[in-house]
Amino acid sequence: MPSSPSVLLGVAGGIAAYKSAELLRRLTETGHSVRVLPTAAALEFVGAATFEALSGQPVHTGVFSDVPSVPHVRLGQQADLVVVAPATADLLARAAHGRADDLLTASLLTARCPVLFAPAMHTEMWEHPATRANVALLRSRGAVVMEPASGRLTGRDTGPGRLPDPAEIADLARLLLERADALPRDLAGRRVVVSAGGTREALDPVRFLGNRSSGRQGYALARVAAQRGAAVTLVSAHTAELADPAAVDVVRAGSARELREAVLAAVRGDAAVGGADAVVMAAAVADFRPVDLATHKIKKDGSEPEPLRLTTNPDILVDLVRQRAPGQVVVGFAAETGDGSGDVLHHGRAKLARKGCDLLVVNAVGDGRAFEVPDNAGWLLGADGSERELTSGSKALLASHVWDAVAARFG
Ligand code: C5P
Repeated sequence: MPSSPSVLLGVAGGIAAYKSAELLRRLTETGHSVRVLPTAAALEFVGAATFEALSGQPVHTGVFSDVPSVPHVRLGQQADLVVVAPATADLLARAAHGRADDLLTASLLTARCPVLFAPAMHTEMWEHPATRANVALLRSRGAVVMEPASGRLTGRDTGPGRLPDPAEIADLARLLLERADALPRDLAGRRVVVSAGGTREALDPVRFLGNRSSGRQGYALARVAAQRGAAVTLVSAHTAELADPAAVDVVRAGSARELREAVLAAVRGDAAVGGADAVVMAAAVADFRPVDLATHKIKKDGSEPEPLRLTTNPDILVDLVRQRAPGQVVVGFAAETGDGSGDVLHHGRAKLARKGCDLLVVNAVGDGRAFEVPDNAGWLLGADGSERELTSGSKALLASHVWDAVAARFG
């Protein structure tokens, strides 16, 4: 990634324009130099002063401001990334047809960097054949047009058309700066299942055995797959602070056994959707659970507590491999620390053989690595003997490498 990437943030005139201020804050806080290009309609929703204060840069809408510096050509040429959020139906139409009637659309024509559109509009507009054709045209030219989120729109309507969460847009923006070709539409027509988070095994009504997984890697896998065109089911265990990824079906599970039921059901699918083409087990599943679940809170009574008796949970990954449908790709994760018997990679190879999955992502953990942090690194091992080092980057970047390997196995 360039040291201080230059980002153009286009803002079109929809009510979701107010969320662009949050996106702008996230982009500047992560060290990007951001110039905001609102449309004239966007300034009906959010004042230029807000964008100028948050970006520290002037805000113009037309091509006749600051003419001597030729901004309608220069801004696009010099950008490392253009993000348009929200992208309204009108903005997508103007961009698809190469209009250059304001500073934002002129900059879209001169930009040669990755372009990310985050649409927001009413469901009818998103589903209209005119918008579908404009989106297809933009995508065919290499632009990334995100799938919008579903949910409450302005007024009482619900359906696809909500602006994806600003954190998600910022995450994909960072991914495109790390890797411009990270979001091809190569998973369109595929159904994938991802598990995320950490299971909790109850001891009594208030206590549990848990782990430190935040769910961020699994959410990044789900988000990237959805934006590469897959139909995604995300089985999520205790990831309360993470917003649901746009265009992803989220199912909640608490314990390892609940997660097992939810993952197996999602992978099986039904007559309407069919079975999954790939499943990625990114969740940290508890290997053991207490034998006894106290129905009342366990009390101190002055005597020494009873030792905890544990029993082994089913290994979901092994079950998935056993039940694997022809052509289905099964991916596991392994969080390892080296020890006296071998390094992280050695343990990873042994685990791949033991579990029998097609791909295994091996993370070195401990010393603040992998858990509860935005970045990740490791190796991607294939049952075919392949081995790829995944250098440090965002969890979305690691996810993009995993989906590359899965897509290659689909053939
Ligand atoms: O054996 P270990 O827990 O290190 O294996 C990690 C991989 O196995 C992860 O992909 C995890 O989701 C999966 N797993 C599982 N069921 C378990 C334990 C782990 O599916 N009971």
